[in-house]
Amino acid sequence: MKKKDFTRRRFIATVSAGSVAAVAANAIPSFGNVTIIPQSKGMLAILGGSPVRKNREWPQWPYVDEKMVEAISRTTRSRIWCRIQSENGTVQAFEKEFAKLMDARLSVCTGSGTQALSTCVEALGFGPGDEIITSPLTDPGTLSSILTSRVLPVLADIDRDSFQIDPDDVERRINENTKAIMPVQIGGQPCNMDRIMSIAKKHNLKVIEDAAQAHLAVYKGKKVGNIGDLGCFSFQASKTIACGEGGAIIGNDEQLMDKCFTVQNHGTNKKGRTVLGGPKYRMNEFEATILLSQLDGVKERFDTRNRNAAYLNSRLSDFPGLVPQKLYEGTESGSYYLYMTTYKKEHFNDAPRDKFLKALAAEGVSLSTYLPNGLHKEPWPDHILSLREYQKMYSQARLKNYREELTCPNCDRVIDDIAMIWASGPLIGSTEDMDDIIDAIMKVHENRDQLNKI
Ligand SMILES: Cc1ncc(COP(=O)(O)O)c(C=O)c1O
Repeated sequence: MKKKDFTRRRFIATVSAGSVAAVAANAIPSFGNVTIIPQSKGMLAILGGSPVRKNREWPQWPYVDEKMVEAISRTTRSRIWCRIQSENGTVQAFEKEFAKLMDARLSVCTGSGTQALSTCVEALGFGPGDEIITSPLTDPGTLSSILTSRVLPVLADIDRDSFQIDPDDVERRINENTKAIMPVQIGGQPCNMDRIMSIAKKHNLKVIEDAAQAHLAVYKGKKVGNIGDLGCFSFQASKTIACGEGGAIIGNDEQLMDKCFTVQNHGTNKKGRTVLGGPKYRMNEFEATILLSQLDGVKERFDTRNRNAAYLNSRLSDFPGLVPQKLYEGTESGSYYLYMTTYKKEHFNDAPRDKFLKALAAEGVSLSTYLPNGLHKEPWPDHILSLREYQKMYSQARLKNYREELTCPNCDRVIDDIAMIWASGPLIGSTEDMDDIIDAIMKVHENRDQLNKI
């Protein structure tokens, strides 16, 4: 029998996964010449059964250790709290380390990922009359960074399986006012960056990577964020590198990165001359202290998330009910800020997703939806289209056609079907933790005829 080297737990789990497909086909599975009777996992916890996971905590997030606590005390006592108080402060130290970590020449930190993106839009000189193409499946901060400069954000639809911006739809939406593409590396996994970069080259567009979720992800040998003209990261509390609120830009063009510094420093350059108008988006020393002192274990945690994601993917590979996010060819690793799947209700007795999620939560495993809507469905377009700047800087025909083209049907389907894990904490767990996730999913599947009773 081929599977006899498996540990008992993995053996049972593997057989259970096999049995699920077999039960669906009304057959008892067999491996070699051994017939396996499906393991019953019992009644759903939400209907009074015993949960798959009890009395065990998931790894907590954000990450905290004693070194970070001591570093914060040191910064507090130093009375150097703002980056301009010292030429060699902690913000500068973190910028150097972060650039190194991302294989970039330079980094400029800001107070958030939104501020990092907004700094890039300004530094590249985009303003009213210009258009930037981005994804509707993203945090509102992406949109905000474009709107702050009174640029028109054009939303291209996404791919149904990868949840990433669809390069064909990007190309369809380019016009003479398009200045840049802002691909969002959703979940922390890479977009189809080869296609995005070749479209940008063909149409002479800049690429600002929204890598807010994608720390350390690698695509075709390059760190995500280091492929376009500029790349932006978020260090908001839920991210895989976190300090509460914070952000960073990375880039290799010294002049452009100097301009980013000046923009985020209220228009004042490194020589202290105020040379342009700009917001004050500076990171403070406390944020940089938290970031710098957590870099030590970052690569190990990143490797663990990738190992666990690969394990979950392999355990789900023959199971049609939850389909993991498609990864593009050339994806060497992801950040796994989110572990995303598509819920296929036809394999769960047509039970709506919220019943599946509730049943799973009662088993001690939390999967969730992402956003309530794609950003194309939020009310902001009515607001911006009524603003004087937009009315002045764009033709009536363009604004009418813009409103009509704010449709992203693939994104609508993805929003309805996503079942995902906020993965920064859970995916640094043990293999047993991952087995709990799969066992809970399989238990709910086994009991799918009960889901409509919830
Ligand atoms: C894809 C994406 N873009 C932009 C942002 C904005 O970053 P921040 O919250 O740090 O402003 C986020 C934050 O969640 C994000 O996930």
